[in-house]
Formats: sequence, C-alpha cells, structure tokens
Amino acid sequence: MSTLTIQTGKNNPILRKKSQIIKEITEEIQLLAKDMIETMIKNEGIGLSACQVGKNIRMFVINPQISKKYQVFINPEIIKKSKKTDSMEEGCLSLPGEFHWIKRASKIKIKALDENGKQFKLKVKELWARTIQHEIDHLNGVLIVDKLLNSKFKTKSLKHL
Ligand code: CO
Repeated sequence: MSTLTIQTGKNNPILRKKSQIIKEITEEIQLLAKDMIETMIKNEGIGLSACQVGKNIRMFVINPQISKKYQVFINPEIIKKSKKTDSMEEGCLSLPGEFHWIKRASKIKIKALDENGKQFKLKVKELWARTIQHEIDHLNGVLIVDKLLNSKFKTKSLKHL
C-alpha cells in the first residue's frame, strides 16, 4: 500500500471536473481504494474522493470510524434526501485551512457498489450523511467554497446590510 498525494486548490482542474462512472471494478481500482483509505487516515480525513488523489472516477472512501460496514462507495447515488437540513462547519483535505458553515440535508438514503461490485443501500444521518454529501459533491466537481454563495443564510445576511 502507499500514501497518495492530495490535490489541492479551489481552481484545480482535476477537482473541478465531473468524475466518470466506473464501468468495471478492476484490481487497480480495488488497490486505489485501499491506498485512498490509507491516505485518508494518515491525513486524519473522514472521507476522500478519487478526484482528490488525481483520478476522475466515481469512487470515494469513508473513515472506518464513521462507517463500520462500508468504507468504499463506487458509483454512489443519493436516492432520497430529507427536507430537514443542518448546518455545520466543514473542512476539506483539498482546501487546507478553510472551514465553512455548510447547510446540508440531515438524512439521506444512498445506493452504491462496494469494492467487490455488490450493490448496497444505506440510510444515514448526521455526520455520516454530511460526509457522503460532501464526497458526492467532489464527484461532481463541487467544493465547499461553492456552497457559501448559494446558502440562504448568506442571502439573508446580505439583505440586512
Ligand atoms: Co473534501
């Protein structure tokens, strides 16, 4: 196993590209998932997407401290989102030193494939739901800095100026 280099910067083209669906889970992809888990843990991250290590494919990993059963998510899709939202301060391994309050759905239902190609569905909430939404944003080239401009909180406070 090896530790991978993390891509950084809000204008980094790799982080801004929409990642491609994985058509076949090869040994290379399984190895990449293992290296991503090692890289995430070493950097004290709670989630890490493939684009953050330079591969624009739809896969992310979640820290085993949050996700006991599933750590590897391939071609993930959110199939349900709660109307209820929560705001919490978030950071990102690709934007060192930046922390922003981000509003996200409190609960989500997700489907994905594991590293062996087996489909699973999960209902998750709180930090786990937040992390998955953050990682899916990565797969679509979206970073936390993009969420600030769209948030209602920001619009509201601007009106008071
Ligand atoms: Co991130």
